[in-house]
Amino acid sequence: MSGLFVTLEGPEGAGKSTNREYLAERLRERGQEILLTREPGGTPLAERIRELLLTPSEEPMAADTELLLMFAARAQHLAQVIRPALARGAIVLCDRFTDATYAYQGGGRGLDEGRIAELERFVQGELRPDLTLVFDLPVEVGLARAAARGRLDRFEQEGRAFFDAVRQAYLRRAAAAPGRYRLLDAARPLSEVQRALDALLPELLEHRRG
Ligand SMILES: Nc1ncnc2c1ncn2[C@@H]1O[C@H](COP(=O)(O)OP(=O)(O)OP(=O)(O)O)[C@@H](O)[C@H]1O
Ligand SMILES: [Mg+2]
Repeated sequence: MSGLFVTLEGPEGAGKSTNREYLAERLRERGQEILLTREPGGTPLAERIRELLLTPSEEPMAADTELLLMFAARAQHLAQVIRPALARGAIVLCDRFTDATYAYQGGGRGLDEGRIAELERFVQGELRPDLTLVFDLPVEVGLARAAARGRLDRFEQEGRAFFDAVRQAYLRRAAAAPGRYRLLDAARPLSEVQRALDALLPELLEHRRG
């Protein structure tokens, strides 16, 4: 595979979607083929699974069901979109990926990390992101930003302890593999976050040649 697989991670309201657009613009200016996508979702079928995952429902969803639906959507997304894009040499910018599963289903729901790792191997084989940008910010700042957007999805309705666990899981993963992760302080004004992204561009393009 000759492309570059970049994922954007972090809790609700961290600025993943906003900065994904920004990064795509900067990279397109440099003549790169960019594929913008997101999880859960990224294909029509996977987006239907996303609806199941995000829509609040009467029947509580078992944590294992949630985990398996995340990986079911991911299998579809990899087969239809991510692997073909990487094979033709594109830079894939993906809003959330398996780190989010470790953070939300592992950290937030308390599911065993070893089981997540088994599913990761089963669904992805050897494929891992080349670079993961973690947008970190205090839980209340992110929740306030998300709340300002309107109706809360099934995850956004969780409590403070859930989001603290999500944040800690992201921070642990970033600290454990500094080669792959870049931690960004997302509580700063957007212009400053974007300056930090500008500073990462040379390294990102370097990764691509390597
Ligand atoms: N650094 C920032 N400072 C202030 N506001 C910001 C900043 N970054 C993003 N925002 C605003 O916060 C809101 C959430 O941003 P965005 O949708 O990009 O977050 P997200 O990480 O994609 O969230 P979600 O996980 O819920 O999709 C938006 O209204 C956006 O304009
Ligand atoms: Mg978003």
